[in-house]
Amino acid sequence: MDNTSQIDYWNGAAGQKWVRDADRMDVMLAPFAEAIVAPALPSPGQAVIDIGCGAGALSLSIKASAANVSVTGVDVSVPLIELAKKRSAAVGAGIEFIVADASVWKPKEPVDLVVSRFGVMFFADPVAAFANIHAGIKAKGRLRFACWRPLKENPWALLPLQVAMPLLKTPPTPPEPGTPGPFAFGDSNHIRKILAESGWSNISIQPWDGDLVLPGGSASETADFMLEIGPLSRAIAEQDVDPSAVKVALIEALQGLAGDDGRTRLKAAAWIVEAEA
Ligand SMILES: C[S@@+](CC[C@H](N)C(=O)[O-])C[C@H]1O[C@@H](n2cnc3c(N)ncnc32)[C@H](O)[C@@H]1O
Repeated sequence: MDNTSQIDYWNGAAGQKWVRDADRMDVMLAPFAEAIVAPALPSPGQAVIDIGCGAGALSLSIKASAANVSVTGVDVSVPLIELAKKRSAAVGAGIEFIVADASVWKPKEPVDLVVSRFGVMFFADPVAAFANIHAGIKAKGRLRFACWRPLKENPWALLPLQVAMPLLKTPPTPPEPGTPGPFAFGDSNHIRKILAESGWSNISIQPWDGDLVLPGGSASETADFMLEIGPLSRAIAEQDVDPSAVKVALIEALQGLAGDDGRTRLKAAAWIVEAEA
């Protein structure tokens, strides 16, 4: 299985942007840490793996919510794992972060729970990857992750792209269904098939709908964030477009949307997926 292009992506400019934006991303994505962790808290003594852990927010949240558990965050991004290690320095024992490709890496001992917040949609061969993850979990162990529903149901990511469209050189080509990327698991039938073929059972896929509070206390700050993250940032980088012109258009669009507190709230749609080993 060749995950080279994603590994390069998350170790290049995108990884650096996620490091810069980690605190702001964690505020925006906090509802998902809650949705993944709260109903599935591990019991004392249990071991947890956080796949595609990034800067470690979900791992840290589990460690803070459940007593006497051990958490291992696994991610291909060196800069994000470095930040996760720094963030967890004060936590002490029971939490570690490893640079590894989760599609082939195995824990030393099988674990009780595998979680992920938007970190499992990037595998070149998802069936092989989830079979490998399955091999690292105890019988009856649990898998619980969040992934995005299709882009068209996620205005927080779609709106910036739509606003920028007249300024792009060509409309970005939508990826083929299932191509590794943030929206690869939009189709719940696709997720169900991958998990069933890789050995998981009792699969449950529930919709999550809500508003995300975008980073930035003003239209200008939120526009800066939109230029950094998601499909728009990829399109700007790939097409070598002048971001300052896109920023002007974004500010104009955002001015009508911000609440009294200056914050922009946009709809988001995800799946919360659960399965048993
Ligand atoms: C959208 S980010 C989510 C990060 C983090 N879970 C969060 O919620 O902040 C996706 C993460 O998946 C990681 N990733 C992509 N492919 C991976 C793989 N094959 N193995 C481990 N991590 C991977 C990326 O490096 C990135 O940190």
